[in-house]
Amino acid sequence: MFGSLILKNPVLVASGTFGYAREMEGVVDLSRLGGIIPKTVTLTPRPGNIPPRTVETASGLLNSIGLDNDGIDEFLYNKLPYFKTLDTKIILSIAAKNTEECLIFGEKLGLVTGIDAVELNLSCPNVSGGVDFATDPKLCEKIVSTFRHVTLLPVLVKLSPNIGNIGDVACGAEQGGADGISAINTCLGLAVDWRQRRSRLGNGFGGLSGPAIKPIALRCVRQIFKAVKIPILGIGGIETIDDAMEFFVTGASAVQIGTANFYNPTATTQLLNALPIALSELGAKNVAEIIGTLEL
Ligand SMILES: Cc1cc2nc3c(=O)[nH]c(=O)nc-3n(C[C@H](O)[C@H](O)[C@H](O)COP(=O)(O)O)c2cc1C
Repeated sequence: MFGSLILKNPVLVASGTFGYAREMEGVVDLSRLGGIIPKTVTLTPRPGNIPPRTVETASGLLNSIGLDNDGIDEFLYNKLPYFKTLDTKIILSIAAKNTEECLIFGEKLGLVTGIDAVELNLSCPNVSGGVDFATDPKLCEKIVSTFRHVTLLPVLVKLSPNIGNIGDVACGAEQGGADGISAINTCLGLAVDWRQRRSRLGNGFGGLSGPAIKPIALRCVRQIFKAVKIPILGIGGIETIDDAMEFFVTGASAVQIGTANFYNPTATTQLLNALPIALSELGAKNVAEIIGTLEL
């Protein structure tokens, strides 16, 4: 439970890796998901970064999409009607450049129904000016509390691993009134074409995701678990039931599947099918019984 957000199960799909869900309806039974977090929207449309925008690396994917999206208005009036037909929780991911933008987002969201919670994306490494809120606990507290005061919806705060102690920033989010922490976004990286002496991405640096970042994500979840009382959504390299169970015992109350959706689109369903047996191996009836039980 994240504030007043109650999920039917703890398996969700991560922002930016599941499109706007309609693309996946032929492959995944969307009603089985605990929740869907669509691609982050900004206040005004963004064209995103110049291509190439993705490159495969060892056990990972490096991307520099740059928050390509059509803006909040287009989402609310053209995409939200479809989401409203789905029997799962819809968590809108938004990225605000400053507190003024937060206020406008709050006003717009107050005029619609069909959104169950908001995930504040404070952590996209590919957008200049967008990452500051996730690096400084005080700035994080300020933006979260600003948004907290303009919405009644549960607020999740998505954090970046590209900082010192993520637990400190999570504390800022908690102080600001967050109902949960989503961790982590991608890890800042670089892929190089040495013959051309260029980055393999059009925009230079990118965000690394997939199995390569799972140990970093687990470390972050543990640090956050020790630092705050609000629940955590674990993200980073999760594909299998073993991955998910590692996150639960480390401290996550739910998990989001990201890059795995690209190479194994039914990963969420497989994971959900395997969950009861994995829990019974630990003598547990539900995920709540095992959250954070890691001895560390
Ligand atoms: C192609 C791509 C696009 C992404 N776009 C977003 C986004 O718009 N908003 C966001 O909060 N995270 C975005 N992410 C980050 C994921 O939601 C997730 O936090 C990250 O990839 C780590 O999880 P994973 O290793 O399971 O992919 C994106 C990731 C990828 C690979």
